[in-house]
Amino acid sequence: MSLLTVRDLVIDYAGTRALDGADLEVAQGETVGLVGESGSGKSTLGSAVGRLLPRSARHTGGEVVVSGEPVFDLPPKRLRHLRKRRLGFVFQDPIASLDPTMRVGNQLRLVLGRRADVGFHLGRVKLDDPRVMRAYPHQLSGGMAQRVAIALAMAASPELLVADEPTAALDSQVREEVLTMVFALAADAGTSILWLSHDLPAMARRCDRVAVMYGGRVVESGPARQVLGAPAHPYTAALAGSAPSAAAHGVRLEPVPGRPPVLTGPSPGCAFAPRCAFAEERCAHERPPPVRVREQDVLCHRAAELAERVAATEATA
Ligand SMILES: Nc1ncnc2c1ncn2[C@@H]1O[C@H](COP(=O)(O)OP(=O)(O)OP(=O)(O)O)[C@@H](O)[C@H]1O
Ligand SMILES: [Mg+2]
Repeated sequence: MSLLTVRDLVIDYAGTRALDGADLEVAQGETVGLVGESGSGKSTLGSAVGRLLPRSARHTGGEVVVSGEPVFDLPPKRLRHLRKRRLGFVFQDPIASLDPTMRVGNQLRLVLGRRADVGFHLGRVKLDDPRVMRAYPHQLSGGMAQRVAIALAMAASPELLVADEPTAALDSQVREEVLTMVFALAADAGTSILWLSHDLPAMARRCDRVAVMYGGRVVESGPARQVLGAPAHPYTAALAGSAPSAAAHGVRLEPVPGRPPVLTGPSPGCAFAPRCAFAEERCAHERPPPVRVREQDVLCHRAAELAERVAATEATA
């Protein structure tokens, strides 16, 4: 069953179209990596899940449904309840999501209730030192503060955790520890994960499914190994490093030549067309409809034909 459905979502900031008809599904208990270059719309999509967008954002079209609840149509009380009971969020800057004037233990008690076993919740994120409870956020390292933020987000065992690059600012060893910890906690609690990241190979290793964003749309989604190992969209192929075997081994890709678009309104065609090695005339002025290629959902006029071509080459090789 689908826990999260995002359908044809359009979000505008003054003069910028951040989401241009984004589609995404997350099933119960599933882990999904949402990847794409800077500005592709990941954070806007992640925030839209809890209607936590900045004031300047306008919901122009489409919908977000969490457990059957239409997020953009909920009255304030129901929305608060949804955020509190069903959703958890962690962001890149943990200090910003904690109250600087309140000791860590008190912040946890505020969320969990006065009688909660704060030590248990800190222990789950491997913060066993009792001094952490009495510390103020600024007295913690980045990694420790992020663990506190994770403990807070996971305290109510949410149905869906939205993680907006929470490990991007951590050094690589701490990053791996925190990633492993969050995925283990979520698996225990049956929590689905939507993890936003720039790193396609890392997400493909950790997640069940991967969704690739470009120009405010999800241009390819499917089982993680398929998307990384046999990408169907030319953009994903470029992201994954054109040799699928290299990508599967986690080799960091060549950046795609050219710049990502900044949209001011609906893209007339495929937003990737100007950078795409396979673009044809229609790609510039016809929006690609969704097609199914193997196990992937893809927005590309030529995806089916290109997949056949690859299959034919492999058959004769
Ligand atoms: N508060 C805002 N006001 C105006 N424009 C914004 C705002 N936030 C994002 N945008 C614009 O919306 C588009 C999508 O941005 P978003 O932050 O969702 O992308 P992202 O994929 O999360 O990028 P990053 O990887 O850098 O975090 C970009 O063009 C960005 O400049
Ligand atoms: Mg972002």
